[in-house]
Amino acid sequence: MNRPYILIVSEVTLDGKLTLYRGASSKELMSLMTENVYKYLHSIRAQVDGIMVGCETVRTDDPSLTVRYVPGKNPIRIIPCSTANIPLNASVLSKEAPTIVVSTKRAPQERIKKIKALGIEVLVVGEELVEFELLLPLLYEKGIKTLMVEGGSSINWELTKKGYVDEIRIIHLPVVVGGENVPTFVGGEGFKSLKKLLYLEIKNYFVLDNFLITEWKVKKK
Ligand SMILES: NC(=O)c1ccc[n+]([C@@H]2O[C@H](COP(=O)([O-])OP(=O)(O)OC[C@H]3O[C@@H](n4cnc5c(N)ncnc54)[C@H](OP(=O)(O)O)[C@@H]3O)[C@@H](O)[C@H]2O)c1
Repeated sequence: MNRPYILIVSEVTLDGKLTLYRGASSKELMSLMTENVYKYLHSIRAQVDGIMVGCETVRTDDPSLTVRYVPGKNPIRIIPCSTANIPLNASVLSKEAPTIVVSTKRAPQERIKKIKALGIEVLVVGEELVEFELLLPLLYEKGIKTLMVEGGSSINWELTKKGYVDEIRIIHLPVVVGGENVPTFVGGEGFKSLKKLLYLEIKNYFVLDNFLITEWKVKKK
């Protein structure tokens, strides 16, 4: 399949969590990050063609997904959102950067129309949930050869389980959050068997202020 090279980048606590509690915006945890760490994150954004977060992250965090801490071009924002249930005032729908909302046949035409009226491209890819096996070749055709994925845990799982992840970079937040139901880096049902796990090879690591950064390449089976 012709698909973009996929790089997941995530801020993860020492106990593997993405946020403070289920439903909490991860912006609160990210406020712990220093300028140097933000620069690291934004320098990756500046190097990729596309950037993706799941619709739930848009609804809880309202991220902009633009490049602000370093000079550089904004990547195209891609938001899988099966029923196009995205707030019309969401920051990802701003004019600062192009955005593609990816919905499914379940999305009401009325919602799609309102999003398109903002000048946003809306694709319909799939029946129930967005089907990545169809979406990724479409993105590749549109010139998105490198795609940074910034979560959340459901999207991370969806791409991981299908074997579409090439690289993972983690900003280790030097805190422990605790809590059983707090979203972790990768959610979903899990691989449940040693044979099926995603295996990685460490490529690079360094410390920025008190934050460990690790960069991993996925081992292909
Ligand atoms: N620390 C970090 O780096 C970081 C980064 C991002 C997010 N977060 C946190 O993660 C949490 C959100 O994570 P999440 O797992 O709940 O949501 P998510 O992965 O951001 O989004 C999942 C949503 O995407 C839509 N979707 C469309 N097609 C899909 C498919 N094939 N597979 C899966 N989802 C699909 C569904 O919403 P629809 O039903 O509307 O289509 C689904 O509920 C928030 O608390 C956020 O703060 C943390």
